[in-house]
Amino acid sequence: MNTQSYKSLDFELIEQGTYLLTLNRPASLNALNTEIFREFALALDEVADDAEARVLLITGAGEKAFVAGADISEMRDKSAVEGMAFSQTAMTLFRRLEMLPIPVIAVVNGYCLGGGCELAMACDWIIASENAVFGQPEVNLGITPGFGATQRLSRLIGPARAMEMIVSGRHVDANEALTWGLVNHVYPQDRLMDEALSIAGTICQKGPLAVRLSKQAIVRGASLDLDSGCQIESQAFGLCFSSAEQKEGMAAFLEKRKPEFKGA
Ligand code: COA
Repeated sequence: MNTQSYKSLDFELIEQGTYLLTLNRPASLNALNTEIFREFALALDEVADDAEARVLLITGAGEKAFVAGADISEMRDKSAVEGMAFSQTAMTLFRRLEMLPIPVIAVVNGYCLGGGCELAMACDWIIASENAVFGQPEVNLGITPGFGATQRLSRLIGPARAMEMIVSGRHVDANEALTWGLVNHVYPQDRLMDEALSIAGTICQKGPLAVRLSKQAIVRGASLDLDSGCQIESQAFGLCFSSAEQKEGMAAFLEKRKPEFKGA
């Protein structure tokens, strides 16, 4: 089913509970510009409004790139104030993505550079094709990263590796990204989307409230001290016991049958 019409991205409910957002500007290797950000925000509104949504997959159109960065032709003539505003737009959007109540998987099918890598890191995890290439090449253009890499890349792979990638601008291939913990799994390109759908299918079979609360505890806990994070987990755990899915999940286990979870 197609949702509202978009120009720079495709956004559809591809299976019950699973949305697929495809960044679709292949002529510029899906570079991120103002229009794509505007449409991305609308797509996130649609997902957030759908109580039946379970998983969001994000990928790039074509076989060459996930996203090759922010759009350099749009950025070239920006002033300092406009540069900061462009950064703030992306920061707000990527934080919203990170805080989306359902899991979001970046399905990285090629170049994943600059803003593309920053977008992928704002997803809950990354799976990649064997030809994927990661990098933060902003220093080649005389700028710093602007959509979160100095913070999220450090937290994901550690400050030394993040420093190396950001200050040298060097590309990292899929297997190195896997070793460094930037990527969860690497697949041949022709299997990547099937693997993504299989992961989505697995998540859709689980208790929807438990999935949402688990994500919330992990994301919110990441910026808290241990005691505060554990407190969020205790509250989430307690809340589960007021849900029909907890009754069904435990009854099904004890009756040796598969649970039938309904709704979120
Ligand atoms: N912004 C705008 N356009 C971009 C772009 C970007 N970030 N990345 C690629 N493109 C465009 C190219 O200008 C080219 O357009 P053209 O066909 O009109 O000339 C088209 O996409 C294809 O890119 P091209 O460079 O010809 O492909 P390639 O296979 O030789 O190289 C890359 C691929 C990804 C290595 C190279 O495009 C690149 O380095 N892109 C910029 C990456 C970057 O610096 N990102 C951070 C931005 S802050």
